[in-house]
Amino acid sequence: MSPAVAAPPPPTHTNPFARMRDDLRAERAAAVPFPPGDTWFSMKRTMGFTRDPLTLLLDAYARYGPVFTQRVFHQNIVFVLGPEANHHLLVSHAANYSWREGHYGDLMPLLGDGMLAIDGPFHRLSRKTMLPMFHRERIAESQRLMIEEVDAALDGWRDGQQIDLYHWTRELALRIAMRALFGLDPDHTRGQIDAAQEFENALSFWSKDYIFQIMRGPGSPWKRMVTASRRLDAVIYAELKRRRASGELGNDLISLMMETQDGDGLLLTDRNIRDEVMTLLFAGHDTTTSTVAFLFYELSRNPQLVESPDFDVALALEETLRMYPPAWIGPRRSIDTTEIAGVTVPGGVPVQYSSWVSHHLPDVWDDPFAFKPERFAPAARDALPKGAYVPFGGGSRTCIGMRFGQAEIHVIATKILERFRLDVEPGYRLRVRQMPTIGPRDGLPVTVRTAAPAAGLRSAAAEAAA
Ligand code: HEM
Repeated sequence: MSPAVAAPPPPTHTNPFARMRDDLRAERAAAVPFPPGDTWFSMKRTMGFTRDPLTLLLDAYARYGPVFTQRVFHQNIVFVLGPEANHHLLVSHAANYSWREGHYGDLMPLLGDGMLAIDGPFHRLSRKTMLPMFHRERIAESQRLMIEEVDAALDGWRDGQQIDLYHWTRELALRIAMRALFGLDPDHTRGQIDAAQEFENALSFWSKDYIFQIMRGPGSPWKRMVTASRRLDAVIYAELKRRRASGELGNDLISLMMETQDGDGLLLTDRNIRDEVMTLLFAGHDTTTSTVAFLFYELSRNPQLVESPDFDVALALEETLRMYPPAWIGPRRSIDTTEIAGVTVPGGVPVQYSSWVSHHLPDVWDDPFAFKPERFAPAARDALPKGAYVPFGGGSRTCIGMRFGQAEIHVIATKILERFRLDVEPGYRLRVRQMPTIGPRDGLPVTVRTAAPAAGLRSAAAEAAA
């Protein structure tokens, strides 16, 4: 195998102004017109996109159909919605879209050249290296560890206690990821630096308004993110050094990546491994956490569902991911001019799909804003058009952590419902934040009530033991 196969792609700009300049150049160079849409600059539209993209894009869909253009900030973006367009972008024509040149570039300072920001052979190498960790048997092993962590975390809960479920899950999910995926001991690393806190510090960059994100210099969100990122790097590099010195290889992703280094000429450098660790932590953390919060938000509003003998956590989870798919937007850049659902789209321009909007299209989903887990009963699910439901993306780049994330959420939800019910605080109003994934802007304050196991609940522990 030639070493070039594993060579990382050339660096991209992290300077927002250079990126804007390149975006404008690419727009001017488009060989064919953009699809119909709203292509003049509008501050109202730009703010609408950052505050409530679901409403904005549903409105544009009603006016223009599944493929249209919207000028957001400085540039025209082609949005593609609905089953046919999703299938085109994710499956049938996936090779015509670059992830690296899409807006994942904004994540590069933290994630480096991890899987979300690479394409082609380098991406395939990373994905192939990590896949064994996500096979069914490995997930079953991880499930035992998940149960252990969730049980320990729930042991502290008391009747009448008030907790923020979102923040509680964030801590838990990070512990699970560190142990199950990377073989790291969260209690040990906490002694050196608070890895969880540093990770939160780094992520807080994306919750800031764009105007603050482009600032540089002391005290800026950028500086905080870079500092936190450096501290986390030190933990990862120290771990690589320790394992190399001791010759210890465990049953985890870091070991798989280190072994790839020892293989037949394929090289994942320490830097590549660091980038993938950060990417997996990032991709798995907020997504899982937000889904748990949204699930319990809906269950609290629909308590009759939980007490029904037909209640099935798996269906409720699918419906939660329909209404609130955390990775709600898939940014790409087209390579060649192409046709999507009968509309011509230029090469070299930003093209984005959105599971969140696609999951609310009135001509695809009956009563799209209502929480109805029965939509995912087997017969109803089979009747869904291909590409209609895409909370984990699709095609050869479907979320690598899908089974891990599903298992984790399932364990957390089942374990909670075996012993408790959660009442969302009266007066709480869900406000959804969009970046970097959708999540409850103000957390999810709940009151814990001890209770008998929910009727119809299939015990995660029994399933894991089976
Ligand atoms: C509820 C949980 C999760 C959801 C809803 C979710 C969703 C997604 C989606 C939609 C994509 C594709 C994005 C696109 O097409 O632009 C994706 C990709 C990815 N996800 Fe997840 N994810 C979840 C959990 C996880 C977990 C637990 C991990 C890691 C342990 C993970 C790691 C990744 C990675 C590495 C990719 C990129 C895959 C590639 O490029 O080949 N995700 N995820």
